[in-house]
Amino acid sequence: MSPTLTDASGAHADPTDGLSVLEQRKSQAATFGIPLAVLAELTHRCPLQCPYCSNPLELERNNAELTTGEWKRVLSELAEIGVLQIHFSGGEPTARKDLAELIRHATDVGLYTNLITSAVLLTKEKLIALVDAGLCHIQISFQGSEQGIADRVAGLKDAHAKKIEAAGWARELGLPLTVNAVMHRQNLSQLPDIIQMAVDLDADRLEVANVQYYGWALKNRAALMPTMEQIEQTSGIVEEAEGRLKGILAIDYVVPDYYALRPKKCMGGWGRQFFNISPSGKILPCHAAETITGLVFESVRDHPIAWIWQNSEAFNRYRGTGWMPQPCQSCEFREVDYGGCRCQAFALTGNAANTDPACALSPLHEQIFKTATIESAGDTRLFIYRNFAGGTLETDVHGT
Ligand code: SF4
Ligand code: FES
Repeated sequence: MSPTLTDASGAHADPTDGLSVLEQRKSQAATFGIPLAVLAELTHRCPLQCPYCSNPLELERNNAELTTGEWKRVLSELAEIGVLQIHFSGGEPTARKDLAELIRHATDVGLYTNLITSAVLLTKEKLIALVDAGLCHIQISFQGSEQGIADRVAGLKDAHAKKIEAAGWARELGLPLTVNAVMHRQNLSQLPDIIQMAVDLDADRLEVANVQYYGWALKNRAALMPTMEQIEQTSGIVEEAEGRLKGILAIDYVVPDYYALRPKKCMGGWGRQFFNISPSGKILPCHAAETITGLVFESVRDHPIAWIWQNSEAFNRYRGTGWMPQPCQSCEFREVDYGGCRCQAFALTGNAANTDPACALSPLHEQIFKTATIESAGDTRLFIYRNFAGGTLETDVHGT
């Protein structure tokens, strides 16, 4: 039998009933609806080895992946419970041979489909097949503006050139294109060129996302952490480009946590607006949730998705505001940022229920700011590449 949760007011809520947990906590039950968009991580297999990958350190093997039939059932179920958009992601989703079949099925059940891809496994023929199956949008990740740094970060030779080519095919085929660029100390100097690259590729949108430090990125933090000076310059560059490129390129900017004063409203609040599905079918409140030890995540193989969304103890643990410690509990921003990021709180304090140290009101804030400053000024440069073996240290071919 599950333990009874106690909310801040001392009232008891049955943790097997998510709605009752939220009502007891006086959270907004209206926000407890099923999310409109869901991320499906089809596989953790990927030809790239990015050192900031958001997948867990322990990657799921392909023999654990949901079958084509299981994914189709999941897609139908999502449409039935009111989901409107499905983002196919990974790992590298195009590593699944049944991707076109899954896109076709998603289209048939009425879902808007987005493909989040590194694009390196695509050929023009494959992309045409995906478009024919109903693909509505493509997001291609870039690791830099030119081959040198981009291929090095990706850990794959010629990756950058393949991405540029695939982006061209996407536009030729009339697919709306988002360019995703993950930024860190070793590629931030290329930001103006990345913005221009997105314009040249005729992208509709550019995501400039500073690395968030959990999982693989935490392992590589010393090699990735930008300097405060870089971040100040970045904000100026993004602001200028937003004004200049209005109506040409929309830019989304994800600020880095360690230099912020207030934390991000991660995932729109735990279990409020988002879930993703892992390759083996686990329903997770965020892509990094499995980095938090001690939480159990239910699988689509065992329960209906709506049941998991409503009843999962892992979702209910940090839903709403009742679970919050001080200073969050009495903070005026508690329903603005929902205490920040649970995964970051766990990564930096060992307890996911703590205030995210990215918040200036956290007793640990000063310490992480100091860590960021020290690491950003350090000379750690080599990456630990993401792979199924638990990571491989980059060979220092450049001798620097
Ligand atoms: Fe957000 Fe908590 Fe910081 Fe307040 S104390 S700003 S609720 S993280
Ligand atoms: Fe998991 Fe922020 S990434 S809650």
